[in-house]
Amino acid sequence: MEVKICPSILSCDPAGFLNPVVKMEAGGADWIHLDVMDGQFVPPITFGADLAKSLGGQVQIPLEAHLMTLTPENHFDAFIEAGCKRIIFHAEVAPHAHRLCQELRGRGIQAGVAINPGTSVAVLEPLYDVMDLALVMTVNPGWGGQKFIESCLDKVAAIRLARPQLRIQVDGGVDPTTIRGLWKSGATDFVTGSYLMRANSISEGIAELRRECV
Ligand code: DX5
Ligand code: ZN
Repeated sequence: MEVKICPSILSCDPAGFLNPVVKMEAGGADWIHLDVMDGQFVPPITFGADLAKSLGGQVQIPLEAHLMTLTPENHFDAFIEAGCKRIIFHAEVAPHAHRLCQELRGRGIQAGVAINPGTSVAVLEPLYDVMDLALVMTVNPGWGGQKFIESCLDKVAAIRLARPQLRIQVDGGVDPTTIRGLWKSGATDFVTGSYLMRANSISEGIAELRRECV
């Protein structure tokens, strides 16, 4: 399956998201990954659907909302109306995850289900037939720039074994030193935030990540 690079804006200066997002698109990004945090599911608070609407009007590539929120279903309307084409919610806060995936798909939105490092891939088993993407968190959610959690590689491999055709996204600590192991384990979609802010340029950073996935 084709490798997709999904830059996160979490490590960008909140005073100026537009410039880096335009550079991400110009640098060949496939999705823009919006890390939505409510201060409840995770301690920080980031931004809402208005930012998605504003940024979405400036780029052609699709936006995805990674809802690190309680009651993610309460935010579906706002992010869908803002133009997001994929919504990723956490299994840990979705007892009706199966129905939420059905709802998103019924509205023409890709359904992503995320699991934290401490959550077993077993929770995804009943959802494989109704989701478009599994997100394996490779750091504990809430912050950018954290250390990659090696043990998550096994989770990626387990999902790949169970579902050879499912897109598997990984999120947290993805950089040129970690992406090859993730890709070989079966990941296809790579969220990266702080690495791109450290790279010589956003486009060079994206190119470097793609070069590792061959
Ligand atoms: C963390 C977010 C990630 C984060 C990745 O809760 O879900 O998307 O922005 O950042 P890096 O790539 O810096 O680990
Ligand atoms: Zn994220």
